[in-house]
Amino acid sequence: MDGMKTVRVEKGEGIAWVFLNRPEKRNAMSPTLHFEMDAALAQLETDPEVRCVVVTGAGESFSAGQDLKEFFRELDGKPAEAKRAAEAANRWRWDRLYNYDKPTIAMVNGFCVGGAFMQLIACDFAVAAEDAKFSLSEINWGIIPGGLVARVMTEALGYRDALDLCLTGRAFDGREAVRLRLVNEAVPKEALRERTTALAQLLMSKDPEAYRATKIAVRRVRAMSFEQAYDYLGAKMEELRQRTGGRAQREGIAQFVDQKTYKPIDGSFAHGQ
Ligand code: ACO
Repeated sequence: MDGMKTVRVEKGEGIAWVFLNRPEKRNAMSPTLHFEMDAALAQLETDPEVRCVVVTGAGESFSAGQDLKEFFRELDGKPAEAKRAAEAANRWRWDRLYNYDKPTIAMVNGFCVGGAFMQLIACDFAVAAEDAKFSLSEINWGIIPGGLVARVMTEALGYRDALDLCLTGRAFDGREAVRLRLVNEAVPKEALRERTTALAQLLMSKDPEAYRATKIAVRRVRAMSFEQAYDYLGAKMEELRQRTGGRAQREGIAQFVDQKTYKPIDGSFAHGQ
């Protein structure tokens, strides 16, 4: 994107690869980076060329968390600037990504520290290099996992694991991140881009309206009672029908029932699966 200093976007075959682009600082997140990421994601959400967004880091790091110098020390005693920077930081890392209209993938290529857990968890999917290094280091700086980090950790992980990682700040790799279900999968670093591309292609093959409605529905029902969820999902289903005229469902059923050209699941049963 033109004129951006700390964010780089590459577009191709429907995918926007969004790089936090301060590799010399391990992609630590400065106020400028937060403002630029906020603007870049807003623009890509309505860009007709883009059908999936991958958030990643330039060089050897996903992100080393908040910039300790520019985000913390230099904003100390400047409440107005600190507020603006914190608002932009929370907006792109959580509000935008968690509610994004398009599929999102976090591709974790190296260090993922502190405040970077927000964008990691906000994305629909996360794929990590096996040797990526994660740490909630806040405790070691004498602060708490702020923004929404502590909250989103309990959203993504079990209580014991969330507490362990927040209280110890211990580092763990991509394989352990899979075991914790913090990421969907970990692959050798050389295979990271290829695997992420394959996942993006799968997500882009879905009906975009159904994809969007499904992810919002899954996220919203988590905090609802069964009764509320019945009501909400019924209303959402109706909204989707209104928006699309039921096109995808009608076509799919015609292909399955009449034309016999489509099966969503391979009907053969392989032993051991
Ligand atoms: N804030 C500001 N600058 C940073 C940060 C950061 N979070 N992380 C790295 N940098 C800078 C370093 O100061 C260094 O700058 P310099 O070249 O001008 O001296 C440069 O990035 C490279 O860092 P190194 O430490 O030399 O790189 P290395 O690969 O050895 O280690 C690592 C990388 C592990 C990420 C290390 O830099 C580190 O521990 N950083 C702090 C990470 C952290 O705790 N972040 C959480 C902040 S709190 C929060 O997010 C709420």
